[in-house]
Amino acid sequence: MKRTTLLLNQMIMPRESINLHTNTGIKIPYNKRIEQDLRHDLSVFIKENNNKINNVFDIQIPDLKTLEKGTKPEADVANEELVKRPLVVEHLKRIFNPNKNVSNYYMICGEHGTGKTTLTKIASKEVGKGVIYFDVPENPTIEKFGMAFGKVLNFTFEEHISFTAQLINKILGITPGRLIGFGIIFDNKAFDPNFSFIEKPRLEKWERVLEAFKCTSTLYKKKYGKPPVIIYDSISLLIPKYLEILDTLQDGAKKGADERKFVAVFVSSEGSVPQRMEQRSASSRADKPLIEIGDLSKEETMEYLIKKRGINSVEAERLYDLVGGRLVNLKSVADKSLAGQSFEDIKTIVFNNIFNNFEKAKINPNQKNHEIAKIIIRALLNSNNILHVSMLRELTKVEPNQLLENNVFAYHPSNKTVTFQSRSIEFYIRENADKFIK
Ligand SMILES: Nc1ncnc2c1ncn2[C@@H]1O[C@H](COP(=O)(O)OP(=O)(O)O)[C@@H](O)[C@H]1O
Ligand SMILES: [Mg+2]
Repeated sequence: MKRTTLLLNQMIMPRESINLHTNTGIKIPYNKRIEQDLRHDLSVFIKENNNKINNVFDIQIPDLKTLEKGTKPEADVANEELVKRPLVVEHLKRIFNPNKNVSNYYMICGEHGTGKTTLTKIASKEVGKGVIYFDVPENPTIEKFGMAFGKVLNFTFEEHISFTAQLINKILGITPGRLIGFGIIFDNKAFDPNFSFIEKPRLEKWERVLEAFKCTSTLYKKKYGKPPVIIYDSISLLIPKYLEILDTLQDGAKKGADERKFVAVFVSSEGSVPQRMEQRSASSRADKPLIEIGDLSKEETMEYLIKKRGINSVEAERLYDLVGGRLVNLKSVADKSLAGQSFEDIKTIVFNNIFNNFEKAKINPNQKNHEIAKIIIRALLNSNNILHVSMLRELTKVEPNQLLENNVFAYHPSNKTVTFQSRSIEFYIRENADKFIK
């Protein structure tokens, strides 16, 4: 195994040339000597391991430049409409600009539409260098996930090429910054040059990209004295179908933290994701408490509606009562109000959406979860809209997970509490008290 490190180290050495090969006296370019040494190392490695090596594959390493530049993503909010949330942005910037000894990974959570993506993009763009921002694509498949992941790291999925061809490629300096690492499949287990260990003879695209990122992060840290940061946004899209990817990313994040190689940041909208991640052993490196991004305060909401969107203060108050400080909803009702829709029309639309969510959660009258939902609703109304998650189980005798998936109730991992998913849900319930409260 030591060999592999040696190989990697040699491969990343600068490509100067020297003229003489000491033993033979024959003029031989320095790079060729590296190649010979590599071949020698490899043959020793193979012998030492009883020829059990089945295959040799290369791991492409994305250009260090991609990490050096950073992704610098653009937030999709016009500057005039943006409510600055300096406390959160500063907090995120500190995380995205880690010192060399940071040994945590992070979890940013909050309900859908609270502004997580926007703030994360703003902070990662401001820090810039060394910050990779990756947003999980909608309706992911293994292929789509792998391609999108590769794209942010500038990873070209070239065909696996043989060791020799790869080596020559590198040695001739055709693609500097790439093809500098490789792994060896040994006994059907793949080792990367840093000896992480994958129980798989073949890697999926996304796994190759992840392995490559790990290698490059080592180079980055060596050069800049601090670990790069990788942000995985919208990771809730990976569940329930691709739990395996989520788990691998989390295990990688833990290892990256243990070895102080890179800092991973997960951004999630779904309460059950942080819940699951917490239950796994890899959570020992997660920074606690989690960072929860919540709704705007009333003051910020008024700033948004009145100053940023130009809505009059009477209407702004009513809209705040209807949807609270949830940005995604505020934007939607503000757009409608500015397009000339009356408050009553807007309210009907909001309520129809909520009705649909209740249908999906099966909590409308005569639906299967109606009685359980009523128990929770009453308990929430009696306890100032906050319940510890364990109370939920006691009250309903049902595992809370099931109840938290349908945008009616929200789970807050930072203090393990449950609330209504938004202020508009509470508003709706109060207006339909005969159905849900009595
Ligand atoms: N600080 C902000 N000021 C104004 N609009 C915002 C702000 N943050 C988010 N928005 C808007 O609210 C909507 C939801 O924001 P987003 O960042 O996508 O939320 P999340 O990632 O939490 O689901 C987007 O349309 C975005 O344009
Ligand atoms: Mg988002």
